[in-house]
Amino acid sequence: MVVSVTESAESSSNFVPLGYRMQELQDTDEPVASDLVVDGGRSENETAALTVNVPGDKSVSHRALLAALLPGAPSRLTVRNANLGGAVRALLPAMRVLGRRVTLEHGDLIVERDGVAVPQPVRPHPDVSDWPADVPYLETEGSSAAARLLIGVLAGAGVAAVVDGDDVLRHRPMDWLVAPLSELGAEIGYLGEPGRLPVIIRGPVHRSATVELAVGSAQARSAVLLAAFAAGVTVEIRRPVRSRDHTERMLAAFGARLTESAESLRYEGGGYAVPPVIDVPADPSLAAYPVAAWLLWGGAGELRVPGVCLNPTRLGFFDVLRQSGADIGYRDQRACPGGEMAGTIVARGGLANLAAVRVDDPVTLHALIDEVPLLTAVSATLPGVSWLGCAGELRFKETDRLVTTARMAAAFGAHAEVAGDGLKVTGGAALTPGVVPSYGDHRIAMAAATLAMSLTGRTTVSDGGSHRTSFPGFVSVGRAIGARITEITRR
Ligand code: S3P
Repeated sequence: MVVSVTESAESSSNFVPLGYRMQELQDTDEPVASDLVVDGGRSENETAALTVNVPGDKSVSHRALLAALLPGAPSRLTVRNANLGGAVRALLPAMRVLGRRVTLEHGDLIVERDGVAVPQPVRPHPDVSDWPADVPYLETEGSSAAARLLIGVLAGAGVAAVVDGDDVLRHRPMDWLVAPLSELGAEIGYLGEPGRLPVIIRGPVHRSATVELAVGSAQARSAVLLAAFAAGVTVEIRRPVRSRDHTERMLAAFGARLTESAESLRYEGGGYAVPPVIDVPADPSLAAYPVAAWLLWGGAGELRVPGVCLNPTRLGFFDVLRQSGADIGYRDQRACPGGEMAGTIVARGGLANLAAVRVDDPVTLHALIDEVPLLTAVSATLPGVSWLGCAGELRFKETDRLVTTARMAAAFGAHAEVAGDGLKVTGGAALTPGVVPSYGDHRIAMAAATLAMSLTGRTTVSDGGSHRTSFPGFVSVGRAIGARITEITRR
């Protein structure tokens, strides 16, 4: 086994060509996997105030890129501060097939309509022998947001295509959006297992309807909304929970007429214009890791993460800890042109006097849906019993995240168990470093590495390289705040 340290892969100057897997870090035919090695504690003396930047928001980046596929979008669209992790890159080969050239210029993604379609090779599927040869084949790797939002845009814009994903994504639900899209008249079929990828979009959305969503998934709702918007039909979307609303904000900024009530959202049509530049604020889900590490250390200084998206539908992790007594503030709040709010997240002090946390309503859960592994890790250090409920949809993430979160926490000696639709975490157990599994799931890997930063001794987070799915600079940001973290590549 060859072991090498791949620190340089963290820097954006090591940018790999667009359209290639972010995971392909080195020019080798051998499979590459990497672990995160964390020696707990801080490497530097405390400073009065420290500022770190985190990458652009993954959800806003997906939506901004897809805006380039909307009918009437400008032939050149600049997405500033886009997240360049694997999940966003997963959309780029499909854009290439659809005649959009995507390049990186000074950190901005430039999407240009040049009409040159570079076909993707079809990935075999055990149940599909006859691939429809007359429509483009679009593979979105492991990104559910890329696949689901793309299906919505294509169904709305009337573009026939096959949308597929990797073996993990092929197991994740697509009926959440395909069923409501069919009610709007779209003809979408399953080529393999019913309800799963690959799907074929044969006919467009063409009629108005009231649709009822079965789940709180923002991706499902966004697919339906984008489809109606692209097709120019009105829609009423009845939703069980108001989860992240980036699509609504973006489309309203483009000129869409949207009205909302407690249970539903109505798109009333109207003209729109996609602007030539879309700004992406920094990702609050990524800011959560350095903030959590800082609070777990509990020093005297202040950590600032500027330019973060302060959309309330994303701030559940910080809000729950604030309610429990953590000193986390939102400063310099401002409205961004694309309809989002941004500002500086400031964290001070520690978690010593915090009570256990309790999440038992779906709105709060969805406002921290990607932070459940991290909140579980933090809860393991708090006294008493914490409860993270209404989290049934976590079973359908990259892994069954209720189970993988509990196992990750248990590997540190924490008492975390899956109970119904949530996680019960009993604090106070002695936490010890060691070898901790991440199951190749980026959120589990980063939560484990963050908890490890606060423990004395060495932790190895297996397959921790998956952090690149959403947070390419995780190791360098960790080091910037004083963590002793290294990535070790196995070949
Ligand atoms: C996302 C929504 C959430 C979230 C994911 C990104 C989005 O997924 O977990 O990381 O961009 O809309 P669900 O919509 O499946 O809850």
